[in-house]
Amino acid sequence: MQYKAVKGFKDILPYQMGTWNRIESEAKRIFELFGFNEIRIPVLETAELFARGIGQDTDIVSKEMYTLEDRKGNFLAMRPEATASVMRAYIEHKLYNVSPLQKLFTIGPMFRYERPQKGRRRQFHQINVEIIGDQGPRSDSELIFMIMYFFSSLGLNDLVLNINSLGCLNCRGPFRAELKSYLGRHFEQLCPDCQKRMETNPLRVFDCKVETCNQILKDAPSILDFLCSDCARHFDSIRSYLEELQVDFVVNSHLMRGLDYYTRTTFEVQTKEMGAQNAVAGGGRYDNLMKEFGGPDSPAIGFAIGVERVVELLEENDVQKEEGPDIFLAPLGKEAEDKAFIWLQELRKRGLKCEMEYKSLGLKAQMRHADRLKARKVLIVGDNELIKGKGIVRDMISKEQTEIPLDNVVDELIGVFNR
Ligand code: HAM
Repeated sequence: MQYKAVKGFKDILPYQMGTWNRIESEAKRIFELFGFNEIRIPVLETAELFARGIGQDTDIVSKEMYTLEDRKGNFLAMRPEATASVMRAYIEHKLYNVSPLQKLFTIGPMFRYERPQKGRRRQFHQINVEIIGDQGPRSDSELIFMIMYFFSSLGLNDLVLNINSLGCLNCRGPFRAELKSYLGRHFEQLCPDCQKRMETNPLRVFDCKVETCNQILKDAPSILDFLCSDCARHFDSIRSYLEELQVDFVVNSHLMRGLDYYTRTTFEVQTKEMGAQNAVAGGGRYDNLMKEFGGPDSPAIGFAIGVERVVELLEENDVQKEEGPDIFLAPLGKEAEDKAFIWLQELRKRGLKCEMEYKSLGLKAQMRHADRLKARKVLIVGDNELIKGKGIVRDMISKEQTEIPLDNVVDELIGVFNR
């Protein structure tokens, strides 16, 4: 019996980890510059948290959630996203007492039961960022500036930033009514899902992937024509900050995003290279969610980056910078092997990256292995060298060989690298 990973769940193999680590460490470096702190949240939450936060009519909640009942009959869900959990943690631990303004990020796996395809998995990873406690357009602009800086620092400069405003609840009412009446005039051409959505939650029609629905939406009313003066001013400020910061963007009034909690700003970073799954990151403002969860009246905004999609973009032109060991120890014979084994551990403790065979091999086989690992230098110690008290250090690039004394060999080798 051979076991296989579950459909849509993938291993991340050692040769891929270089790119993953580069993305995560670059994110952490940049988030620190912008004053964010890390938070870790559980993978399982009560299913209701997501239904309430993301919205019952969204695809994520109604079709894609991994839910389970535990032994006590609690109805749980594997998190499909991080925002609702971060809000729950902010309220549960009263983080607002520490400081009402919290800038938080979290990195980890999310789960959605979608049909797997290129750029789409059932377990995928997000780098998720939230600013809680500020409602002005500067936090929106800062967050958007930061995400674009993150992508360009990874060398991804061909991405397109889409922005929109969904207004507040006051702007939303008249827009919904107008949209509903427009959709009503095309009712027969809408897919059965959208016919239902039109009644329950017309904005969700914008999530539909059916071509005929997309065609109908092309001439749908624009939310931007319904913004109240406060929301319009908020959106104008963001655009002018972004212009001053020289961040290119496209205003896309159809960018509703597939989650119900958004108010005002939404944004998505898209690539032209990935077909249907073209969003590498998306986010927006959600000023009412905290209140909805019974917390303080704290406005918030955030985004999440889809790590697999960024990995895919990078892998094509990413040269893996695999660093070989500084030194490969090549002892010959039991006595030399035992000594070298102790030196090996001490050298590692002193900060040198070193390798040695676990089993006894001849010199040729050891040199071949050192070569394959791309070791910079090899220390050769056989019976002769032990008698003379001098080992041979071979530089694997210049092929030059020098002798070094074996008493105090650890210090001697450290010295070779500090020269
Ligand atoms: P989202 O747009 O649902 O937003 O997901 C964010 C990103 O996660 C997407 O742009 C995409 O790159 C990636 N992603 C989503 N589903 C999959 C999948 N099945 N396979 C691979 N990658 C995927 C959110 O999750 C919001 N919580 C973002 C947010 C944070 N809004 C405010 N704060």
